[in-house]
Order: sequence, then C-alpha cells, then structure tokens
Amino acid sequence: MFDYKEERLIWHGVPVNPLITQVEDLLKKQFNYTGPFWLYSEKILTERLAILEKELPHFHFYYSVKSLPNIGILKRIQPNKNFGADVVSGGELYRALKAGFDPKRIVFAGVGKTEAEIEYGINEKIRAFHVESIAELKDIERIAEGKKTTAHIAFRLNPDVEVDTHKHITTGKEENKFGMSEADFLMGITILKKSKHLKLVGLQAHIGSQLFDATPYIKTAQYLHDKYAIIQKELSQKIDYVSLGGGFGVKYERLEGDGIDFDFSNLGASIGAIFKDANLEVHFEPGRFIAAPTGILMTRVRHLKERTGKVIAIIDAAMNDLIRPMLYEAYHPILSVNRREGEHVYDVVGPVCESTDTFATKRTLATLAENDWLAIGYAGAYGASMSSNFNSRVLLPELLLAANGELKFLRTPQTYDEMLANEFAAKN
Ligand code: LLP
Repeated sequence: MFDYKEERLIWHGVPVNPLITQVEDLLKKQFNYTGPFWLYSEKILTERLAILEKELPHFHFYYSVKSLPNIGILKRIQPNKNFGADVVSGGELYRALKAGFDPKRIVFAGVGKTEAEIEYGINEKIRAFHVESIAELKDIERIAEGKKTTAHIAFRLNPDVEVDTHKHITTGKEENKFGMSEADFLMGITILKKSKHLKLVGLQAHIGSQLFDATPYIKTAQYLHDKYAIIQKELSQKIDYVSLGGGFGVKYERLEGDGIDFDFSNLGASIGAIFKDANLEVHFEPGRFIAAPTGILMTRVRHLKERTGKVIAIIDAAMNDLIRPMLYEAYHPILSVNRREGEHVYDVVGPVCESTDTFATKRTLATLAENDWLAIGYAGAYGASMSSNFNSRVLLPELLLAANGELKFLRTPQTYDEMLANEFAAKN
C-alpha cells in the first residue's frame, strides 16, 4: 500500500509528490487555502469493493456510512448493486438518499433513534430499522400506526460473543449498550404476534470492529440461525435477510502488500453452509475495510522542538481533524512524502491547546524538517467523519484522485463564515 522509490512516497502505485504539488496549487488558487487536506483514491475504493465481492460472492453489503460519509464517496459506491447503505442517523439517511441509494437498499441502525428519525425512515420506505430495544420497537409501532402503515424492522441481537479487539470498539458483549438480549428477543416476538404495524424482515448482529478472522462471525451466524428457528416456530413466518454487521479489520502498521488483512478463506463457505437451506440474503456492513485504505491525511511539519531524547514535531493537522490516535490510542503510519536521510525519535503533535493532541509518541521517523509534507496513512475510515471544529479550526477539504488521474474536490475547504453561519443566523 505504501512504498518508497528514490526516497519518494508511492501510495498504491501512485507517486504522492507530484499530486501534492497539484493539490497545493488548486487549493491556493481557488480558495487561498494552504492547510492540511484529505486525499482519497477512487482506484483503491473500487478495488476494496471488488475484493469483498470476490471474497464473498452471493453475499450483500451495506456500506457503513459513518466510516466515510462524504457524498462523493457514497455516489461512487451506490451504482454497485451489491452495495446498500447502513445509516445511523437522519443525517446519514439524508446523505444516502442524496447520493442516489434506493431506500430499499438502506437500513437504519442505532441505539437511540429519535421520533423524527423514525418518521423520516418510515416516510422514505427504507428497507428496515435495526431495532435495538423493546422500547424502540414500541416507539416504531406507535409511529407506524399513526401513519396507518407498516414499518419494516430487523432485530439487532446481542449474541454475547467475545472478540479480541480494543475495548472501545467491542459491541457484541451482553454488557454493551447495543442490541437486544435474549429476554428482549422473546418479548419482541410476543409484541410482533399482536402487531398490525410491524413486519419482521431480518435479524442482525454487529459484534465489533477490527476483527481478522471468521471465527466470531461463524459463532454469530450460528446464533442468528438458532434465533431464526424460533422466529419460524413462534411467528410462522420467513425473513428476508440476516446481517452479520461490519468489522473486517485493517492492520494499520502494515505498509507493504495489498491491505487485505482479514482472513476471508473460509468465511463465505462456513456462513453459506449455516444458512444453506434458509433461502435468505446474508449481509455484511463493512466500513473500515473499504474506507481506511482509501484515504490519507496530508499535513505539513510546522516546527521542530528539541527535547531530551526526542524531537517534538508540530504538524498543521490536529486532533479535531483525525481523533483516532487520541481517542483509541490508534496507530497510524506517518510517512514523509520526500524521505530524508537518517532517523530521529519524534513526538508528532498537533497545534490544538491540549496535551492529548498527539498523533505519535516516541516514534522513529526519517529525519524531518520544517515544511515537509507528511502522509498519515489508513486515515479514510473514521477520519474526516469524526472531525470537528474544535479550537474553531475549519473542516478540511477532501479531494479525490479519480480513476482517470484527475483531482476532484469532494469537499471544498470550510471558510470562517461557513463555520459561523449558524451563529450569524441566530442574529445574537
Ligand atoms: N455496522 C454497525 C452496526 C456498526 O456499529 C459498525 C461500526 C459497522 C457496521 C462498521 O464497522 P467497521 O466495518 O467499520 O468495523 N470510530 C471507531 C470505530 C467505531 C465503529 C462503530 N461501529 C474507530 O475509529 O475505530
């Protein structure tokens, strides 16, 4: 994925240096902007979708919009009919619809959907709400009844599967806030028996992120299969799909290779065997696997400060742009676009007024100098998506290197006036 040729960074076969010069020029001329920016690769995006289709034929994918929600990205995923959208808010639903996703290919997840969001989903006739609690099931029923319609729902179950991942991104354990417990599931069935305004179309479970092999998915599939047997017995009905959630992992440390770190070898066959006679669709909801390698964050070294045993490199990107290192102690590669001779130990920090604004601690990097361009790798997933205006820093421009080599804006740099628009509108 990342390589060097004559000390120049190559990203998936593309030399980064000439690109940077072009982007710098575009941003300066069109927007008088000189700061950091996100760079996405259409080629990598397309490849990631193709990998999933190849490794998991006969399966369906619902792209986890939260990982990289830029509408330009959604528009490029949408034409592929094997991909729908997994949304978690009214805002994401709006994006997915604007990007052209058929509502029949949109599912709506999330532990605390608002009434307005439920109404929105019902009005748009989305494929299903992934229901996380009995309270929510009753809410959806009441709202559907008010509209004299039937809402399509899937139960999001909590299979209590242990996965080996970071504590902040496990979701399938009983103690987590996500999904319905065994007792909720049985209660849900009782409610469905009497309901005229709810139709059960699926079962779903998402057990966590950063998974690297089939084992937890197989356990989850078995669990959903058993629950489906109960549904058939109790409700005498079929469902249209089961969804095993997202979670295909990415090894952020690995620079070489094609970035396929998940072991797909027996996933498709094992899951296929479990649902062999069920005659239903099996879905996955990948986010990171598609988005992480698709994007890099381009940033420049502002200053270098000598400290005992290390140098502090202050860069122009900050925690408000990419918060993963600060929030999850996540590792992202930091790569010089033009590599200098020699190495040093660096703390790489942003300019925000917080000690936690640190991208890397005591990291050995090729020698840096002021104004050097750096690429922060595997930053496409939960990067721009989790950005904020903290410290009143503008949201960064997002650019796409199109498959034909052209550079396109997917988001222009936010201006100060845009950042303050709602405050101006308040006429305070
Ligand atoms: N489906 C559901 C119901 C989810 O909650 C998630 C992610 C996904 C699919 C997609 O998972 P993925 O394929 O991306 O692992 N901000 C954290 C990740 C949080 C993931 C939350 N749920 C990070 O930056 O690592």
